[in-house]
Amino acid sequence: MNKILVSIVFAVILVLGINKITDVIYQVQKPETSAYQVNVTTVASTETQKSSESSQDGDIMALFASVSGADGAKVFKKCAACHSISQGGANKIGPALWGVLGRQAGSVPDYKYSKAMAAYGKIWSFEEMNGFLIKPKDWIKGTKMSFAGLKNAKDRAAVILYMNENSSEPLPLK
Ligand code: HEC
Repeated sequence: MNKILVSIVFAVILVLGINKITDVIYQVQKPETSAYQVNVTTVASTETQKSSESSQDGDIMALFASVSGADGAKVFKKCAACHSISQGGANKIGPALWGVLGRQAGSVPDYKYSKAMAAYGKIWSFEEMNGFLIKPKDWIKGTKMSFAGLKNAKDRAAVILYMNENSSEPLPLK
């Protein structure tokens, strides 16, 4: 009986000891960790600079003032191989886009979406659409939309405005 007790105590001490050793190893490695963190911060600030350079990536609402639906119709030529936009338009390689703004993602009933798009669940707001169109495969991992994206913020604003106009219930622009 006593032997068992002793070995339990010994086991506890052993575990605590290993924890201590782990702590020491962790502390030794700490300088490496913070050096890495410095790198991360540098990358992050470069990215912030980039996005502010490419004319207000985030502020889609502000960009609407500087574009027209007609500009958007031109940009939409890049989408038209795969998407119809007119009322009652058919699905092509991609789903029909009449009234897509304000609609739930992945919700055209007779279109077979990827699992990722079908499960996405969000409403296509202006901001959501803007994020998606920068680089679709980054925004929704697993989407089957094979389109690199629209790098230019004004192109995105224009095509989003155009899609919003092609709807029986356009979203309000403010
Ligand atoms: C090469 C074909 C192709 C091109 C080009 C293309 N798309 Fe798509 N798009 C698709 C496919 C396929 C899907 C379905 C994606 C899925 O199920 O993951 C899709 C889905 C979408 C959706 C989601 C629709 C919904 O019902 O939720 C939007 C919005 C969209 N595309 C907009 C655009 C716009 C805007 C452009 C042009 C700038 C464009 N697409 C260019 C093939 C394309």
